[in-house]
Amino acid sequence: MDELIVFDKVYLTYHTKESETPVLSDINFTVSKGELMGLVGPSGCGKTTILSLISGIIAPTSGSVLTGGSPPQKCDISGYMLQKDELLPWRTNMGNILLGAEIKKLDRQKTKQKAIQLLKKYDLEGVEKHYPSQLSGGMRQRIALIRTLVLAPQIILLDEPFSALDFQTRLQVVGDVYNMLKSEEMTAVFVTHDINEAISMCDRVAVLSSKPCRIKKIIDISEFNGIPPSERRVNKRFVEIYDDILTTMQNDGE
Ligand SMILES: Nc1ncnc2c1ncn2[C@@H]1O[C@H](COP(=O)(O)OP(=O)(O)OP(=O)(O)O)[C@@H](O)[C@H]1O
Ligand SMILES: [Mg+2]
Repeated sequence: MDELIVFDKVYLTYHTKESETPVLSDINFTVSKGELMGLVGPSGCGKTTILSLISGIIAPTSGSVLTGGSPPQKCDISGYMLQKDELLPWRTNMGNILLGAEIKKLDRQKTKQKAIQLLKKYDLEGVEKHYPSQLSGGMRQRIALIRTLVLAPQIILLDEPFSALDFQTRLQVVGDVYNMLKSEEMTAVFVTHDINEAISMCDRVAVLSSKPCRIKKIIDISEFNGIPPSERRVNKRFVEIYDDILTTMQNDGE
């Protein structure tokens, strides 16, 4: 199965007592195994809604969403990384990493061993007995990603995971997370407001419109495949791709 995520003619309408809000309209895209797909679009256009469909939290009003060839079961094959790292302050870093595994009743020792390997690989050796408050923002985000990785999800969903970080830290963490996702051969969907960040990390970027959300264009940047964010930013193609995405975002026509 090469195409891990398939959206086929997906429409979604939120129903409330008073009204119906059509949010997604005819969304079609696929994400292949190992690919990093970006979603950029105006605030409130439906980006988080697309992630909720992939994780099986909600179902489409019409059309189909398939992950790994079947409709997603609630959070079964995907892991979430959110804007805030959501680490619990009263648990040690290792306690936080093991939280998802505890909820899923996975083998604690095996998960712990995997966590130790990942901590070592990603420069966090020795922090397992410390608490999240003793770490920098960037380290906390890496812990949060390790907590997701130990669950061995097939898909990682990143919903603006860097927006709470300051600019310097952000550059660093974008590089770290890219490195972790590629090295673990993860398939990921990455939501961001920041065009720079999308080009820094993704293989393709879908530019979305709002009310209702449609895909205006999917921009292929696989020419940057394997090139880390810090090198992409100084590549002369970066500005051209930036312009392409910005022009597409600003263009009102279909
Ligand atoms: N549970 C819900 N019930 C009704 N309307 C909803 C619900 N969740 C989201 N919406 C509406 O659907 C639209 C899309 O919301 P969504 O959260 O997917 O946008 P977004 O692109 O992630 O926004 P942001 O960039 O601000 O995070 C918004 O207009 C929002 O008000
Ligand atoms: Mg959102």
